[in-house]
Amino acid sequence: MSSPPREQRPITLLKLAEKRALGEPIVMVTAYDHPSATIVEDAGVDVVLVGDSAANNVLGYRDTVPITMDEILMLARAVRRGLKTPLMVGDLPFGTYEASNEQAIATAHRFVKEAGCDAVKLEGGGQMAERARAIVEAGTPVMGHVGLTPQTATALGGYRAQGRTAERAKQVLDDALALQDAGCFAIVFEAIPNELTDLIMEHMEIPVIGIGAGPSTDGQVLVYHDLLGINDAFKPKFVKRYAELRQTMVDAVGGYAEDVRTRAFPGPEHAYGVAPEEMDRLKEMLAHKRAHA
Ligand code: KIV
Repeated sequence: MSSPPREQRPITLLKLAEKRALGEPIVMVTAYDHPSATIVEDAGVDVVLVGDSAANNVLGYRDTVPITMDEILMLARAVRRGLKTPLMVGDLPFGTYEASNEQAIATAHRFVKEAGCDAVKLEGGGQMAERARAIVEAGTPVMGHVGLTPQTATALGGYRAQGRTAERAKQVLDDALALQDAGCFAIVFEAIPNELTDLIMEHMEIPVIGIGAGPSTDGQVLVYHDLLGINDAFKPKFVKRYAELRQTMVDAVGGYAEDVRTRAFPGPEHAYGVAPEEMDRLKEMLAHKRAHA
């Protein structure tokens, strides 16, 4: 399969707004390390999210809640070193922005100064719209996130679609509008019914990136490990797998183990050579040493 045409110049907020205006779908994906960053760069995506989903996808936590600033900043710096073109967004971890506008601004600044992020993302509407406004006014672009917000999934009744009653749907709409009014440059809609997305889209003036929110958003986001089938323990309805890499990886490491155990690896093609006369000289040197010991 040939690579898609590459966007040569770095993706800016203006470019994303232009894509929305032109009806060109925006492609967003997560990345959490240098190899995944270079892969999504080469695949030509528009936006890369260093998601707090790194918690469960690479750090082995059960959900996104425990990831710390030190952990996500280390991952974000590795992603930064692998990206040239896409807009890079850092995900504010749970507990690092909710308490006050000052806390939110300080956390956002760390993502920009210490990891080179172009923007940050935060979850939730309501009070979080005020945090978003404060971060934007302090100079960092913000992406909002409404619907299913994994950091507060327990309060939402678990990992399930949101906005399925008129009251909850109204809440999702209000949250999206509050984040838009707060100056967010884009918003993620996660796990909401298509009909609700269609209705909210009529009110949106900024790019909306969907994950489990149907086809009418301005773009889509998937988690790298989900779309590649690296994490096969988790498959929500909205994930489409484009590969089954986990099994391929298990098979490859198993093949290596088998080759080592049967001495099929390493073969002559993996070996370094040395000139025979150098080996003869070495043997002479050792024999001479033994004779004079
Ligand atoms: O952390 C993450 O992966 C996300 C996406 C689901 C949008 O927030």
